[in-house]
This record gives sequence, C-alpha cells and structure tokens, in this order.
Amino acid sequence: MSTLPIGNLSVNRLGFGAMRVCGPQVWGPPQDRANALQVLRRAYELGHNFFDTADSYGPEVSETLIAEALHPYPKDLVIGTKGGLVRPSAPRWDPDGRPEHLRRALEGSLTRLRLERIDLYQWHAPDPKVPFADSFGALAALQQAGKIRHLGLSNVSVAQLDEARRIATVVSVQNSYNIVDRASETVLQACERLGIAFLPWYPLGAGSALQWPKVKQVAARISASPAQIALAWLLARSPVVLPIPGTGNLEHLEENAAAAALELSAADRAALD
Ligand SMILES: NC(=O)c1ccc[n+]([C@@H]2O[C@H](COP(=O)([O-])OP(=O)(O)OC[C@H]3O[C@@H](n4cnc5c(N)ncnc54)[C@H](OP(=O)(O)O)[C@@H]3O)[C@@H](O)[C@H]2O)c1
Repeated sequence: MSTLPIGNLSVNRLGFGAMRVCGPQVWGPPQDRANALQVLRRAYELGHNFFDTADSYGPEVSETLIAEALHPYPKDLVIGTKGGLVRPSAPRWDPDGRPEHLRRALEGSLTRLRLERIDLYQWHAPDPKVPFADSFGALAALQQAGKIRHLGLSNVSVAQLDEARRIATVVSVQNSYNIVDRASETVLQACERLGIAFLPWYPLGAGSALQWPKVKQVAARISASPAQIALAWLLARSPVVLPIPGTGNLEHLEENAAAAALELSAADRAALD
C-alpha cells in the first residue's frame, strides 16, 4: 500500500473509519461486541494503520473498543480522534466548541484510548456559537502542553482552514467527499496546494456511491465491487487523499482493503470523473 504523511508520521493510504463498530445510529455498544473487536483487529492486520474515531461515536464506544482490541498499540498504528460534537440523543450531533468542553473532551479521549498524547486530534466541527479562534486556540494550547502531536480539522471551508493555519499548524482536513458528492472539491484542492492530508468521510457515500450507475458499470467491466471502484477513484483523485471507509462487517472490510491494490485505467477514470 502506498503511504501518505500526517505531519511527521507516515500511514498507509487506505485508513479505517471506526464509527461503524458502534450500535445502530452510532449510538451505544455494538450488537455483537466480539465481531466489533475482530473487525478492529483485522483492519490493522489488513494494513490499515490509520484509524479514524471520535469521542462522539457511541458516544465513547468506538474509542473504548479500539483500546480493548489493540492496546498496547503496534508502533506504526496512528489513531486520529476528534472532539467538539456532543450527542444528547442518537439523532443529534451538536457542536460544542467551548474551550472548557474541548479540554474535557481531549482528557476523555486520552483516558479511553489509554494514551498520553493523541497523534492526530481533529476538531470535529466549528461551533457557530463560539469564536473560531477561541476553540482552535484552546486546542493549540493543548498541543503546546504535549497532549496532542498533530492538529487536524473537520467540516471546514477553505476560509476556516486559512484561519486555523494562522493559529497553529494544521496537518489534515476531514470533510464529506466521494464520487457522488464533491462539494468539498475546493477544500481538497487547498489541501493539495498545502501538501496536507485530506480525509474524505462518507467515502462510499454511506452506501449511496455504490448505487451510482457509472460506478456499477466500471465495477462490472473490471470484475471489481462498486465499493472498490468508489475507493480506487478516491485514491486516484489526489495523492493527498486518505479515505477512511467505515464498516462493522468483516466481509466488507476485506473487500474494501483490496481496493488499495486496484488501479483504474485512464479510460475508467475518465468515465467516472
Ligand atoms: N468528520 C465527520 O463529521 C464524519 C462524519 C461521518 C463519518 N466520519 C468518519 O468517516 C468514516 C466513514 O464514513 P461512514 O462509515 O459514515 O460512511 P462510508 O464509509 O461511506 O460508508 C459506510 C456504510 O457503507 C457500508 N459499507 C461499507 N463497506 C461496504 C461494502 N464493501 N459494500 C457494501 N456496503 C459497505 C457500511 O455498512 P456495513 O457496516 O454493513 O459494512 C456502512 O453502512 C466513519 O467511520 C467515520 O470515521 C466522519
């Protein structure tokens, strides 16, 4: 698998999104805990050495399961977690960018992940109720205190990326992006210009990209699965893209991992672009 830098760390270009190992609606524990643990361990075995998680997945479930499955962590495993969203109930993902909340969120993640420092701490989403610089400034201070190795952003515009970069070094951006939803194209281009990682969430469009006729046609033509086509397209899109497909299913996990070795021909790429 080819690699990509996250700050001074290097990870394989196909990561693993650990949101789907929680219960339905990313709420509560998984229905089959043993299976969830097996998915996490197998994801690492298959070469995914970047895991994406967040305190709000479960909440607290995904991070706890990652530690249970893989701590003490292999040396090359990079865990990127996030803070800044709260879950008063299953359907709600409310921003809370108050510095005191972000400090508490980080401490919770450190405890659950059994770490003294988070390799990549991503601010989950700006909070319109709190000045941007207050929230990101609080995270920069936590980095200076040694609790965060690298800072990333999520759900931001190019202007917000620029504002954050005036406060601290940003090594990654995580926005929704896939073959059927390219609204973050300008953010991806900004990451490419800056040489920082772009982590597309919903790389499979939460399943919708697999139904796209062009994806199905190319999949049928080259005997690959639609998920593999959607991931191979992302990998070919830009060298800074680090897809983080999510699954709680071992078969899907194996299928998605194989996409790292799939190279699309110029004709197939043109058909998908
Ligand atoms: N920053 C943010 O705001 C944000 C928001 C959402 C997600 N994320 C991150 O991004 C990661 C990926 O997003 P996501 O999991 O929501 O969406 P996704 O990766 O686009 O799609 C996951 C969905 O597709 C299914 N799936 C996975 N592999 C498949 C395959 N080979 N064939 C058919 N179906 C398949 C999964 O179901 P099964 O479990 O049945 O395989 C799941 O329902 C998350 O895990 C999380 O880490 C971040």
